[in-house]
Order: sequence, then C-alpha cells, then structure tokens
Amino acid sequence: MCGIIAYIGDRDACPILVEGLRRLEYRGYDSAGITMQQGDELATIKVAGKISELARTLKSTPLEGTCGIAHTRWATHGAPSQINAHPHLDTPETIAIVHNGIIENFYTLKKWLIGEGFEFRSDSDTEVLAHLIHYFYKNSLEDAVQKALLEVSGTYGIAVMSSLEPRKIVGARNGSPLVVGVGEGENFIASDVTAILDHTRQIIYLDDREMVVVDADNIEVTTLERKRVHRKPEEILWSAEAVQKGGFPHYMMKEIFEQPRTIRDSFSGRVIDETGKAHLGGLNIPMENLQDLSRVIITGCGTSWHAGLIGEYMIEEFARIPVEVEYASEFRYRRPVIDHNNLAVVISQSGETADTLAAMREAQKGGARALGICNVVGSTIARESDGGIYTHAGPEIGVASTKAFTSQVTVLTILSLLLGRLSHLSEAEGRRIIRALKRIPDQVQSILDRAHEIEKIAKLYYKHNNFLYLGRGYNFPVALEGALKLKEISYIHAEGYPAAEMKHGPIALIDRNMPVVFIALRDSAFEKVINNIQQVESRNGRIIALATEGDDVVAQWAEHVFYLPATIEPLTPLLSVVPLQLLAYYIAVERGCDVDQPRNLAKSVTVE
Ligand code: G6P
Repeated sequence: MCGIIAYIGDRDACPILVEGLRRLEYRGYDSAGITMQQGDELATIKVAGKISELARTLKSTPLEGTCGIAHTRWATHGAPSQINAHPHLDTPETIAIVHNGIIENFYTLKKWLIGEGFEFRSDSDTEVLAHLIHYFYKNSLEDAVQKALLEVSGTYGIAVMSSLEPRKIVGARNGSPLVVGVGEGENFIASDVTAILDHTRQIIYLDDREMVVVDADNIEVTTLERKRVHRKPEEILWSAEAVQKGGFPHYMMKEIFEQPRTIRDSFSGRVIDETGKAHLGGLNIPMENLQDLSRVIITGCGTSWHAGLIGEYMIEEFARIPVEVEYASEFRYRRPVIDHNNLAVVISQSGETADTLAAMREAQKGGARALGICNVVGSTIARESDGGIYTHAGPEIGVASTKAFTSQVTVLTILSLLLGRLSHLSEAEGRRIIRALKRIPDQVQSILDRAHEIEKIAKLYYKHNNFLYLGRGYNFPVALEGALKLKEISYIHAEGYPAAEMKHGPIALIDRNMPVVFIALRDSAFEKVINNIQQVESRNGRIIALATEGDDVVAQWAEHVFYLPATIEPLTPLLSVVPLQLLAYYIAVERGCDVDQPRNLAKSVTVE
C-alpha cells in the first residue's frame, strides 16, 4: 500500500525521506519517488522497483535541500512504472504532490482538464490533482489545494509542495490516514507514524476532510472548509527499535516469536482472577446495553475475519448471544438488517482497511454500536468506533499477520468472558477460562522452543504445490488461517476446510502428492477427526498432524505429528495456529520467497 513522508526543517531532507520510506516498506509497494525543493526549483527522482533502487539513483544524482516529499506507490490506476510513480507534478513543475487513495472522479476531471489545455504524462489518477491545484493556484498553496479537493470525490491522504512557496507543505486527508510529526524547528507529515518515529514521538492525527499547513515552526490544522481545528499532539510510547527485526532474519519470524509476550500484553490488567470476570476500559457501552444485545455482528477481512470466526464460537458458547461473522466487503454492500440492540465487533489490525471501515460505518448507520478491535493506536477504525479494545501487539511489519491474530483471539476471549459473565457463565467457569488463558504464553513458548521440528517437516514438503488444511469446531478457522499463511508467503495453493466437509469434494484431490495438515486435538471433535484422518490415509494422502501431548492415536495414522500442550477447547486456536505459522514461514524460506513482503500483497489495504 502507498506510503507518504514529508519533511520541512533545517536538516538535509533527502536521507530523512529515504529512511522514512524504508520504514514504510512493510506496507508493500512497487515504485518510489522523491521531490525536493532545490534552490528555487523542484527536483524529482522516481524509480520503478525498490527503495534501494531510489537510493542508488540518488547517489549518482544527489538532491539537496531542507524541504521535500516522498512516496512509495502500490499501483491502482496505471501500471507500476517510473512514469506512474509519485510525486506527480503540474506541467511547469512548480507543484508536486504525493497521494494515497483513489480519486474516483478522475476520468471526468481528466477529460475536463485536457479540454482546458492541460497535458498529462501518466495514467495515474493523482496527476489530475497536480494539474487541478495548478489550475486553482493564485498566490496561496493551501487555497489552491482546498479548491482542488472540493472538486474531488474519492479518498486521499496527500502532501503537496510548491516552488512558488518554498517553505511550506500542505497536507490533507479523506479516507486515507495522515499524521503530522511535531519536531523542534522541523515538522513532518506521514501516512504512518512508523516513518517518522526516529525523529519525533509527538503526533497530531488528522481526521477525514481536514487539512494541515506546516512550515519548520508552525502547524495549522483546519477543516476542508478552512475552519481552525485545535488539536494537541499525542505521544507515541513504543520505540523505533520495536519496529526493527530484533536479531531475527525476517520480521515475520520475530513477530511469531513475540507471541508469548503479545498474548500476555493483550490480557494483562483485563481479567480478574477472584471473580472470573473481565474488565475492558475502552468499551464505552453501558453494561445494561451489553446485557440486552439481541445479536453480535463480527466483521473484518483476511486474518482478522478468521479471528472473528473464533470469536463467534466463543461468544455463542460463553454468552449464548447469536453471532454472525461476515466479510466486511460483503457486509457493506448487501443491505444487512441491523438494529439498536446489535453490537458490531469490527476487527482490524491496521484499523485502516477500507472495506472494514465501510462495514463499520454501515453498521453504525443501521443503529448498531461499533466496537473496534484494532492494533494500531489512533487508527481510523479505532477513532470512529463507539468503543474499542486495543490488542497491544505492537507494530506488525510482516505483511502476513501472525501476532496480531493471536492478540485478536485473546481480546475476543476477554470480550466473550465479559459478555458471558453478564449472563450465562458461572464464576467457576470464568475463573477456569482465566486460569487457562494465563498459561497460554508459556505454552506458546514451549511450542516455539520446538520450532526446529516444524522446520524439518517444511524441508520435506516445500516442493509440493498444493496443501489441504482440515480442522473442526474452534480449529476450523485455524485451518483457514494456516492455509492463508501458506498461500500468502510461499505462493503454494492451499485450502482450509472443515474436516467433515472433506468428503463433499476435496477428498477427490487426495493422493500421494497431496499433503494434508490435520488439527486433531483431544477436544469434542477428536473421534470424528480421526475418522477423517483414516479416510485420507487409506487414499495415500500424506498426513501432517497437530495432536495433544499424551495422545497416542494420531501417530498411528499420520506421517508427522507435532504435539501441543493441553488447554481448554476454546483456547486451542492460540496454540494450534503457531506451528502452522511456522510451517508457512519455513516453507516460504525454503522456496526462497520474500517472506516479509510477498508479491501482490499489502499490509494495509486502504482501497476497495
Ligand atoms: C491485508 C493483509 C492481511 C490482513 C488483512 C486485513 O490483506 O495482508 O494480513 O489480515 O489485510 O487487515 P486488517 O489490518 O484490517 O486486519
């Protein structure tokens, strides 16, 4: 996904901008570019490909100056190429813009601008904005940006500069995040705090339809209608080092290994041992409303949706409230029936996923209260939801989500416990769940300590082109998540299925070349899963199984067994997903794949 960083101050801007772009690499991108105020002109360099390519070009053609904007692009309109990369400039090259989002009426605007005599160089929707700002420019960049944005429909986070007003950068946001980093004698604009955390921890978050004008010493936030907005900076508490790899070869590996801590952080201070109850500070919903819920709607995309499926099982089991889980992209467009007694639980690691945000707004429009489960503090979903629970997993850089998933499931456990204890769940049951939850971090650690066992299996299977993942009950969503991890980072076709559904189609695929990963734990579905294992074994399928420590049945049928410590059934996903994350990781490494930035994927999908 696209990334923005802009700098104005008295330091050499170029290294700050390039380093900022590097920090945004994890979002996924296909081209990069930079514009600097050099003397009284704008100087621009753009490349198709990686930031290292941009850095190489800048070595041979250095840009100097103390004010500049930079961008990593993830193609939406027009191919990934140098010409379509940002910044985009007007024809006389006095105005430069970087943009995240999509200008939806760009075609109409482009046609009109061409009629007015403007010439276009690229296929990018963003170029329309550069010419439009030029069209409106009289003597104030912010006035021209405002007028241009009033003509635009769609989403944007932008940073704009002009050689006509060299000590100024204008930013604006609508539907695509933008923050201002407050420095001393210098200021920053970025799409993501990660880009500027080396320089400042004081952050001002812009809301939709807001603009900002920054110079080295001043920051002025206004609405798009130019009404002054007074907003204090917020302090970011996590360190820049937290986003480094911490000695691991890949961010994904580091994040898998962080899970004992991140799971603990997700429940710490939120459960009460003595009463078997949960306490969630940010819910913002009166207890009597929570007791009266007629339905819970859970929505999200990708891995967050899988966490939602586990949440469904838990809320129904603990609190006996009907739950519906739906892909955000479907929910937003299908005219769902919603009422005031519904609670929408909106799950998003980034808090910026366009479909999830739209689904939340749809639920709120229908009268439901929205509860955001987000990882990124200050993200749009976190701010627009009626109440929220942060997952506290810390920044997740690897595109394939791992620690965010286990934190989401942990938070959903606590929410289910809270709802359960308001109705059906006894104190003893509540206490039993808390006791089991508190053992999970050490149990995850014991799995990670045996990562080499999974690595061995990966080395045997990495050349296969298809995988099947089967599980039941609480571990059906884990089968989906295991398959998703594998396809995301190793480009192997993998499908997750409820184990019993296998006989309705996938069984036709089983032969010697089809590895089947079974989650066959000692839970209520155990006997039935064993039946499915036998069906696969008798058709020569190759079985890799997860089983519970002490079990001696699974090994009779499976070629490889990885044992997991025992826990209560609803918490098994927090353990069973870990070896599946590791399996995907090691297979991708064996295949030589770019684990942290898989092709075609983005960390935060802020377009539809
Ligand atoms: C992208 C990411 C996935 C993620 C999904 C939802 O597809 O690559 O890892 O699960 O978006 O993201 P969210 O930030 O809303 O959880």
